[in-house]
Amino acid sequence: MNKTLTIRVTKASQSRLESTNFDALAFGQIISDHMFVAEYEDGAWQNLRVEPYGPMQINPANATLHYGQSVFEGLKAYRNEAGELLVFRGDANQRRLNESAARMCIPEVPEEVFMEGMRKLLEVDREWVPRQPGCSLYIRPFIFAADDYLGIRPSRKYTFMILTSPVGKYYAKPVAVKVETQYARAIEGGTGSAKAAGNYAGSLFPALKAQKEGYDQLLWTDGKTHQYIEESGTMNVMFVINGTLITAPTTTGTILKGITRDSVLILAREMGFPVEERFLPVRELEESLLSGTLEEAFGTGTAATVAFIHLINIHGKDYLLPEKSTNAFSDRILKTLDDIKYGKVADERGWIMKF
Ligand code: COI
Repeated sequence: MNKTLTIRVTKASQSRLESTNFDALAFGQIISDHMFVAEYEDGAWQNLRVEPYGPMQINPANATLHYGQSVFEGLKAYRNEAGELLVFRGDANQRRLNESAARMCIPEVPEEVFMEGMRKLLEVDREWVPRQPGCSLYIRPFIFAADDYLGIRPSRKYTFMILTSPVGKYYAKPVAVKVETQYARAIEGGTGSAKAAGNYAGSLFPALKAQKEGYDQLLWTDGKTHQYIEESGTMNVMFVINGTLITAPTTTGTILKGITRDSVLILAREMGFPVEERFLPVRELEESLLSGTLEEAFGTGTAATVAFIHLINIHGKDYLLPEKSTNAFSDRILKTLDDIKYGKVADERGWIMKF
C-alpha cells in the first residue's frame, strides 16, 4: 500500500444512530452519519476525506446532471458473532467499478483509494453495521463528473464518494415479474454491462408501467428480438428447470456481471448442481411453466440477495410458480451465501475482507 495516502476525518457534531430504528430497516431509506469523498483533478485523485453526510455543493453545469456521466457500485458489510465487520467480495466490486468507469470515460479509482476510503468510513461508522439477523450495511461507492462545462466531452474533474446505509430486505416477499417485450434495457454495443446511472433511469418508465399493472419488476428480454430472457431490473435472474440451473451468459455486454450471480454459479458448481449459462428463450420459459418443469425462479444481486419469484407474466398471461420443495436450490444457496457473509462458516474462497 502507498504510505502517503492520507484521509482527513471530520466527525459529525451529532450522530443519528440513536434516532434510527434498527428493528425496522427497509432498503436505502437511512444513510449513515458520514461519507467518504475524493476529488479528481489534474490527473490525480486528491483531497481524500471522511466528512458528515449531508448536502454538498456541485457545479450545476456538470456532465452528470446533463449527460449522465456517472457510475456506481453496491456491496455489503456484515457483522459476525465476534463483532468483526466482514465485507463480501469487495475486490470484485472495486474491479467492476473501474470496468464501468472505463466504458463511461471516467478515470479509474485506484484500489487503495477505494479500499482505504471504505476502511476509514467503516471505522468511523462502525456502529452503523446492524446487529439484527438478516440485516447488513449497504455500501454505495459512486463516481460522477464534476466539471463546470456544458459541451459534450468527458469531464476533466470527477468526484468519487462512498455512502453507507443500514438495510434489511430489498424485497420483503417473493416477487411477481413481467416479461418485457416492448422496451429495451440494453443492446449489444450499448452500456448494459456497466453500472451506469443512466441504465437505471431508462428502466424507470417501463418498470413503473409494470408496477401499475401489479408486478414488482420486469424480466428484460434482449433488445433486438425480445425472445430471450436477459436480467431483471435490480438483479440477475436464474431458473431451475428440470433440475438444471439456467442463467443468461454475460458475454454480449448487455447483462450486468453480477457478483452475487458469479458467487451462486461458483457455489452451484461446487455442489455438483448442473448449471447452464445460456440465453433462455421466452417460449421455453412459458413451456416449462405449462408443463410444470420450471421448479424455481429467483433474482440474484447485492441488494436483492436471493429474491424468490412467485409469478411470471408472459405476453399478458400470469403463471404462478409451483410451491418450492423442502430442498429447494434457492433456499440452500441463500443459506450457504449467508453463512459465508456472516462468517458462520470458514471463508474458503477468499471472499471475505475483515475490518
Ligand atoms: C445492488 O444490488 O447493489 C444494486 O445496485 C441494485 C440497485 C439498483 C439497488
